[in-house]
Amino acid sequence: MKILVINGPNLNLLGRREPAVYGIGTYAELVSYVNQCAEALGLSVTVFQSNHEGALVDRIQEACGRFDAIVINPAAYTHTSVAILDALRAVGLPAVEVHLSEPLEREDFRHVSYAGLACEKRFAGQGFDSYRLALEYLSARGGADT
Ligand code: DQA
Repeated sequence: MKILVINGPNLNLLGRREPAVYGIGTYAELVSYVNQCAEALGLSVTVFQSNHEGALVDRIQEACGRFDAIVINPAAYTHTSVAILDALRAVGLPAVEVHLSEPLEREDFRHVSYAGLACEKRFAGQGFDSYRLALEYLSARGGADT
């Protein structure tokens, strides 16, 4: 099973960025953790990060026919991007929303998730483990055609 893991803006700054909220692990450590989890589950993962909304939309579109499922942390675009929601709906792949923090326990403007409307599952507030839980969920679930 091939899974595309997509990370949105400012996640490249993990480790330096608001460590009290996001932890001290760096982005490179997150990627390495995701790869380790995938290997343990026998999944193939590709991890992509961009600070640009259009680049994220492009990668979602390109996932069609190339991946079986998407794990996405749209970061701040979670709360603003109808374009990412529409792209997820357009490709129709099983998608899981993840967050390091729990946006529902933070400012009101983080309580809306547009991307989440196209995701069948959500894991949040568990740091790097949110990604592991998403991969475990998809591994158990199987891909689009299973
Ligand atoms: C985040 C939560 C978002 O509200 C925030 O804008 C982020 C990271 C998280 O992983 O906790 O950049 O998606």
